[in-house]
Amino acid sequence: MNISVSLLEKKHFPVMLDEVIQICDPSKKNQLVVDCTFGGGGYSKELLNFPNIKVIALDRDKSAIERAKELETKQPNQFTFYNEKFSNLEKIINTDTKADVFVFDLGLSTFQLQDYSRGFSFKATDKIDMQMGLSDISAEQVINTLDEASLKLVLKILGEEQEANRIVKNIIKARQIKKIETVSELVKIIESSKKKNYNKKINVCTKTFQALRIFVNKETSELIEGLIKATQFVKYGGKIIIISFHSIEDKIVKYYFTNYSSNKPNPSRYMPTQSNKKNSFFEKYKNNFLTPSTKELIKNPASRSAKLRYAVRTEQEFNHPKEFKEKFRRYINVENISI
Ligand SMILES: C[S@@+](CC[C@H](N)C(=O)[O-])C[C@H]1O[C@@H](n2cnc3c(N)ncnc32)[C@H](O)[C@@H]1O
Repeated sequence: MNISVSLLEKKHFPVMLDEVIQICDPSKKNQLVVDCTFGGGGYSKELLNFPNIKVIALDRDKSAIERAKELETKQPNQFTFYNEKFSNLEKIINTDTKADVFVFDLGLSTFQLQDYSRGFSFKATDKIDMQMGLSDISAEQVINTLDEASLKLVLKILGEEQEANRIVKNIIKARQIKKIETVSELVKIIESSKKKNYNKKINVCTKTFQALRIFVNKETSELIEGLIKATQFVKYGGKIIIISFHSIEDKIVKYYFTNYSSNKPNPSRYMPTQSNKKNSFFEKYKNNFLTPSTKELIKNPASRSAKLRYAVRTEQEFNHPKEFKEKFRRYINVENISI
């Protein structure tokens, strides 16, 4: 490998880059785009090729700071980076400096996945950490201290793992003998617990790892807050773009765009249609989503589960969509279990 290669050039394929850029429409003058998940900076870097664009980027991972510095040094008037969670968007942007586009590319970056010391990959042999950054707990603390009932809830609700009971029983048994410290130890426990592999295409550990990662980083609460705040701070006519990678994320995004759009389904045919106008934050949304092209799938098979949805903001004044949080309360409640 050429070691002089820039940190941003490291083998990293931004998912659905062409589609994201096209939706941002950067040839339009004087746009402000908020890249809520900077990662390897793929979107930010491409957008900054357009002279009239300003990008504010954020990422909760402190390892992104160094990658962002390259762009801050190169294009100081166009680019600013914050090491912050997107649930705290109000710390960065406000109603006076509304943005034209908010883009969220959810999940892990290649850098996080390939850094085995962080314990996100089943291939890692080291400690089970799974903190994306600005997280309060590690996965090691979760599997060694959470009580049996709560651990089952984490695996069932956040991982949709059908064999959660057996996996958790075996985790509890193992930790009574010795603290579970490494990813390899956890992988062995999961492998020996799984009787059925319902989906042969995915690794038997996928759902448990997904559950732990979501729990450690409170990912569904982050997504819900991020969507609400982006709606508050996006200009009328502006866009919110989300790329999601698993069914829980997509369920949340789909529900939000559909139920807060001007053509949201009428809850009852006996209700006056006028009630549909309340909280119509987005223009007609018809459950449309994009997926990676065949060309992209060949180049980057890891993009296969990506779903891109975007919605266009109407002029409806923002008011807090309380019902949205209630709808997904069970995920939020599980993420708030204290250890
Ligand atoms: C899939 S990567 C983004 C890749 C990026 N689009 C690119 O082109 O390089 C997701 C990034 O989002 C960050 N992230 C995830 N959840 C976040 C949150 N709630 N707030 C801020 N950053 C977050 C992760 O740390 C990770 O670096």
